[in-house]
Amino acid sequence: MLNEYLEKRRLQVEAGLDRHLPAETTRPAVLHQAMRYAALAGGKRLRPILCMAACEATGGQPESALIPGLAIEILHTYTLIHDDLPCMDDDALRRGRPTTHIQFGEANALLAGDALLTLAFEWLSHVPVPSPYPPGQICRELAIGAGSQGVIGGQVEDLAAEGMSANADLVDYIHRNKTAALIRACTRIGAICAAAHPLHLEALSRYGECLGLAFQIADDILNVTSTPEQLGKPVGSDSALGKLTYITVHGMEKSRKRALQLVDEAIACITVLPGNTEPLAALARYTVNRTQ
Ligand code: IPE
Ligand code: IPE
Ligand code: MG
Ligand code: MG
Repeated sequence: MLNEYLEKRRLQVEAGLDRHLPAETTRPAVLHQAMRYAALAGGKRLRPILCMAACEATGGQPESALIPGLAIEILHTYTLIHDDLPCMDDDALRRGRPTTHIQFGEANALLAGDALLTLAFEWLSHVPVPSPYPPGQICRELAIGAGSQGVIGGQVEDLAAEGMSANADLVDYIHRNKTAALIRACTRIGAICAAAHPLHLEALSRYGECLGLAFQIADDILNVTSTPEQLGKPVGSDSALGKLTYITVHGMEKSRKRALQLVDEAIACITVLPGNTEPLAALARYTVNRTQ
C-alpha cells in the first residue's frame, strides 16, 4: 500500500518540478540545465510527500500542499548540491549520477544551488496562506528550517566536528539541525496549508522532529551498511572524512534501537490528528526500513 502511495505522490512531484522549473533553453542555459539536472535526477521526494501527507492528516486537501512541497524539494536539492562541493563533503556521486559540480563545474553548481534556493521562495510567495495564519507564515517556516539556526547551522557544525571524538550532545545538535529542521518544516507547512488547529500543528512539529532525527540516523547507518549502487551516493565516506555520526558516537546497535524508538515516538504524536494519518505512520516506518 505504501509503495503505491509513494509512487503516486512521487509522480505528482516529478511532474510539478518538470512543469515549474525554467526550461533548459532559458538564458543562461547552462544555469537552467544545472538546476534541472540536480532537481530532476531522481531522489525519494520524501519531503514534498511528507508535506502533502501532513496536510491530509489534518483534514486538508493534499494537493493544496503540492507547491509548498515542490519549493521544499528544490531547496533540499540546493543543500545537496552545496553539500557535495569540494569545500564540504567533496562527493562525486548523488542520486546515482555524477554530482552537479562534476557535471557543470564548481561555479555553475554553486550558482545553480543559489538559484534553486531563491526560486523556492518565489514559488512560496504565490501560495495563499489560510487563516488563522498570517500571510508570511509559510515562507517564514521554510526560512527558519533552512537558515542559520536550522540546516545551515547544522552544516557548519557538521564540518567543524570532522575528526572530533565522540560527543552525544554535538551529534544530536548536528542531526537535529542539518536534517530534522527541514523535515519538521515540511510537516508544519503541510499543516498550515490545511489551516490546522495550533495543537495539531504542534503535534506535527514533534512528529517531524522525531522523524527527521530518525531519518539522519538511518542515513548514518546506510553510509556504513549499503552499497553505492543501492544508495546512489558514496558509502564509507563518513568514516573517511572523520564525520561525527550516530554510529561513531553510539555504535550500530544503539543507533538502530534509537531510530526505531524515534519512529514509535513520531507515530504516537499523530494519534490526535483529525484526518487520515495512515500515510504519515507508514512514512515513519519507511524512514528507518528504507534501503535508499
Ligand atoms: C539526503 O537526503 C540528505 C540527508 C538529509 C540525509 P535524502 O536521502 O532525502 O536524499 P534524496 O532527496 O532522496 O536524494
Ligand atoms: C545531510 O548531510 C544534510 C544536508 C545535505 C543538508 P549529509 O552529508 O550527511 O548527507 P549525504 O549523506 O551527503 O546525503
Ligand atoms: Mg554533509
Ligand atoms: Mg554529504
